[in-house]
Amino acid sequence: MPIAVALVDNVPDDAHVVGVPVFAGRTSPAGAGPEPDRAYLAERGFEGKVGETTVLPGPGGTTLVAVGMGEPDKVTAETLRRSAAALVRAAWRDAHVATTILAAAPASIDPALAAQAVAEGALLASYRFTTYKSDPKACRVESLAVVGQGAEADQGIQRGVRIARAVALARDVVNEPAAAMTPRRLAEIATQVAEDEGLEIEILDEIAIVNEGLGGLAGVALGSDEPARLIRLTYDPPGAVGSLALVGKGITFDSGGLSIKTAEGMETMKTDKSGAAAVLGAMSALPALGPLVKVVAIIPASENMPGGAAVKPGDVLKIRNGKTVEVLNTDAEGRLVLADGLSLAVEAGVDAILDLATLTGACVVALGRQIAGLMGNDEGWTAQVREASERAGESVWPLPLPDEYRKLIDSDVADVKNIGGRYAGALTAGLFLREFVGDVPWAHLDIAGPARSDDDEGYLSKGGTGFGVRTIVEAVTGFRAP
Ligand code: BES
Ligand code: MN
Ligand code: ZN
Repeated sequence: MPIAVALVDNVPDDAHVVGVPVFAGRTSPAGAGPEPDRAYLAERGFEGKVGETTVLPGPGGTTLVAVGMGEPDKVTAETLRRSAAALVRAAWRDAHVATTILAAAPASIDPALAAQAVAEGALLASYRFTTYKSDPKACRVESLAVVGQGAEADQGIQRGVRIARAVALARDVVNEPAAAMTPRRLAEIATQVAEDEGLEIEILDEIAIVNEGLGGLAGVALGSDEPARLIRLTYDPPGAVGSLALVGKGITFDSGGLSIKTAEGMETMKTDKSGAAAVLGAMSALPALGPLVKVVAIIPASENMPGGAAVKPGDVLKIRNGKTVEVLNTDAEGRLVLADGLSLAVEAGVDAILDLATLTGACVVALGRQIAGLMGNDEGWTAQVREASERAGESVWPLPLPDEYRKLIDSDVADVKNIGGRYAGALTAGLFLREFVGDVPWAHLDIAGPARSDDDEGYLSKGGTGFGVRTIVEAVTGFRAP
């Protein structure tokens, strides 16, 4: 059960554990309630770094958790997210928890955003994928009372709760093994989400995919016994002032196809549906959050397998927009299914497109495991996505799409080839995608690094992180047609 998070005026009597903010230097802000014993904290070597906690006895049989907040003048929404997460990890087995960490938020942070961050951090830290565990050791925190005031803070908490639920959905989709989360199952889940939340949905099956000319998706699916699906969800609120398409890579398992991966390279490839999961997660929250933007989500979903009918190196596929692609490496499959997805996004006549994909190992080499690569064809729109990611607390960094590298994807037999050689793999993948967006402002997030975490750390949990959900929600909320 997710933690019930609520804004309260004072620490409730039934709180077993109270998380109190402590800055570096072991001072606490005004209004932080019970003061932890500073001499004790010093003796325990507690420094007050962000994410640090120490448990100590509190008044009347309660437990205090000193929650490190770092330097007082450096507290951001991300600090609150991380400190709320640290508190939940420290109080993992206690039912009723309260906290005064909002008192550490400087006046410069929007009170709604601060409260939202606390709710997100706490809920995301409590997430664990336990479906297949006999002894799940799930988080036992039932309630988190957040001490604070005001309607804005209250709305912030509600928003944070809804967004955290969307991230948890994305994590569940990513963490589910490929045998269970097939393209058909993903389409079923999307149908359920659409029904529960009030979104329009349309699914193309394997026959419709061929009939509609989605040759990239159909081609990637050739090697698999599991049929592909194209999932389209629409959020169209009355009075919408702009429109946006989201495209998410939904490779439910990436074996590499005939250009097969190593055993080790395949170990984590159930997570190759993380772009799709982020898009689905974000869509699930939009009706409740109510932004006045039309959003069309397009998820091409397939396995990438080396079956007898599989696409072979040298084969040519025709994408929905009419361009032909020479497939020289079947492991560069994400861009093939995205090419169809992006073509459909262009046809939807939207003001801008954002795609998310675990697209290249090269992006992980360039930016590491915590930062997504951001590329695009429109400075204004990529700047919006970058600002959204900053508000959301998800790290992205811009990468170029150099025109002088376009020739790296020239093909001898088709319009383009699906690989660009040894160097700049994230960029040549981006340049490939650019071929399918026409003149529509488009941004691409390569989330191959941050989509998955190796550790339970802060508000991340081992496995799928749900990276991208929060950035999408922020990008939709603040959307201005570029
Ligand atoms: N799904 C992978 C990318 C990936 C790699 C994601 C590692 C997460 C971690 C993608 O389909 C792929 O295999 N890309 C190839 C492209 C290459 C063949 C041009 C890669 O990165 O090696
Ligand atoms: Mn691949
Ligand atoms: Zn892949």
